[in-house]
Amino acid sequence: MINHRVAAVSGGTSGIGYAVLETLVQADVKVSFSGRRTERIQQIAVEHNESRHRVEGVAADAVDEDHVDRLFEAANHAFGERPSAFVLCAGRGLPGSVTGSDASLWEELLRVNVLGVMRQLRACATFFKDTYRSASGDIRDIVVIGSTVGRTLSAGNPVYGATKFALHSLVESLRVELCEHSVRVSLIEPGFVKTEFQATAGYDMKWFNEIEQTQGPLLSAQDVATSIRFVLEQPPHVHIDDIRIRPTRQRA
Ligand SMILES: NC(=O)c1ccc[n+]([C@@H]2O[C@H](COP(=O)([O-])OP(=O)(O)OC[C@H]3O[C@@H](n4cnc5c(N)ncnc54)[C@H](OP(=O)(O)O)[C@@H]3O)[C@@H](O)[C@H]2O)c1
Repeated sequence: MINHRVAAVSGGTSGIGYAVLETLVQADVKVSFSGRRTERIQQIAVEHNESRHRVEGVAADAVDEDHVDRLFEAANHAFGERPSAFVLCAGRGLPGSVTGSDASLWEELLRVNVLGVMRQLRACATFFKDTYRSASGDIRDIVVIGSTVGRTLSAGNPVYGATKFALHSLVESLRVELCEHSVRVSLIEPGFVKTEFQATAGYDMKWFNEIEQTQGPLLSAQDVATSIRFVLEQPPHVHIDDIRIRPTRQRA
């Protein structure tokens, strides 16, 4: 890939993060990735490292203080170089309103989607800023997965949507803070993407299947990964900082 030899992906064990990992590997980028499921990490490593060492997995909770350090050091150890791009995919959903959602899951939702992303952003932003050399012409990329429900109020998903509204604010402010250091901070706002997300969030699958019938075909994780590749491949003086991507027939 034009701009990056090594990249990191959080939440690379399934869905959008896994599709990003595959897309990057196909573009000859080496990838360190994280997730909590150790068996899945091992399986991905076996699948992708057959002919040469292309991915390095780290079993970690994305909220851990040392998560980004471990992810970047794993890349350095495996590939001799730390990542110049970081795609933050770890996250979860939660259906329902303030009165209708499962309040026992609020803390976990906020922990992963907001606190976790803030910690990851701070760690990678600090690293990218500190290692920036104005003469080198290098570009660094941070890509965050927001959501259309972080842009447009959603009657069905306002609690999850609140965490994505928070991310949209963080991403734009970090973009302003880092642009002079040639770090591009970009937001991807997907609509419905068919992944493990729906089951993990506890969606009513009858409702979701109806959505798929009436507004599908829904996006695949690969559709989103392709838009992320587009962002990463822009020449250093061009920044596609925000992409909203929805199924063509999605209404809201
Ligand atoms: N699917 C959609 O319709 C949709 C729409 C808009 C935005 N998004 C956003 O896209 C991102 C990816 O979602 P997805 O659809 O790809 O869902 P997914 O298939 O469920 O993938 C979620 C990924 O995040 C990881 N993860 C979750 N909690 C984690 C934690 N505490 N620490 C480390 N890793 C964690 C999971 O790995 P482990 O389980 O191995 O930890 C998994 O790799 C999320 O931020 C989501 O909010 C999804």
